[in-house]
Amino acid sequence: MKRERLDKVLANMGLGTRKEVKALVKQGAVVVDGVVANDPGMHVVAEEQEILVDGEPLNYKRWVYVLMNKPPGVISATEDSMHETVVDLLPYEWAIKVHPVGRLDIDTEGLLLLTNDGQLSHSLLSPKKKVEKEYFARIDGRVTEEHVAAFAKGVELEDFTTLPAKLEILSSGENSEIRVTIMEGKFHQVKRMFAAFGLHVSYLQRVRMGPLHLDPSLEPGEYRELTEEELTMLQQHVKGNQ
Ligand code: URA
Repeated sequence: MKRERLDKVLANMGLGTRKEVKALVKQGAVVVDGVVANDPGMHVVAEEQEILVDGEPLNYKRWVYVLMNKPPGVISATEDSMHETVVDLLPYEWAIKVHPVGRLDIDTEGLLLLTNDGQLSHSLLSPKKKVEKEYFARIDGRVTEEHVAAFAKGVELEDFTTLPAKLEILSSGENSEIRVTIMEGKFHQVKRMFAAFGLHVSYLQRVRMGPLHLDPSLEPGEYRELTEEELTMLQQHVKGNQ
């Protein structure tokens, strides 16, 4: 458990800027373990101590894990000068802390994890861990068993050859619907894998990352915290994939 300055904890919870939360403390609005705090610089262990602000308990969580159904049209970044970002969709107290774990293209939808747990994020993205990413896609053109076989061998792209990928045809015709599972997460990877066969991806949605599935009850743009069970599964998954 980490000892931190009270004003830092309060600011991280979205209660205001450092200056504003200092003023809150000076006004006597903050009570720590039953005693009115008068020093914004006092050290607290926020997870352990009882902190009340205007009589309301502060529900402090050091680590935040958010599962989002990313909508199209927003960028997977913490800030961007042109477009809205995934972080802009979140409440302030989460937005100031988290970063997206990897990137989905602006037009890609689906499962995106956001967290301030740098270690977990690093592990999930590490090529060594080979965490599976599964996508649903609509393809302009006919996807055939030849593509399935080629994906299973790994697809040669300009800068690298992908690891074997599992391609499953859901429907095939003038347009096709497929599911594909890849183990890397290179820039535009799925689109480039199909482009290598002259095929265009018209819709792309991530449905799974390792053991974590997109929650069908989340509409695009909606999000929720990971459950304890999901978090444990993710942590064990990256531990197991050494
Ligand atoms: N592959 C892509 O081409 N785009 C994404 O957003 C994710 C995987």
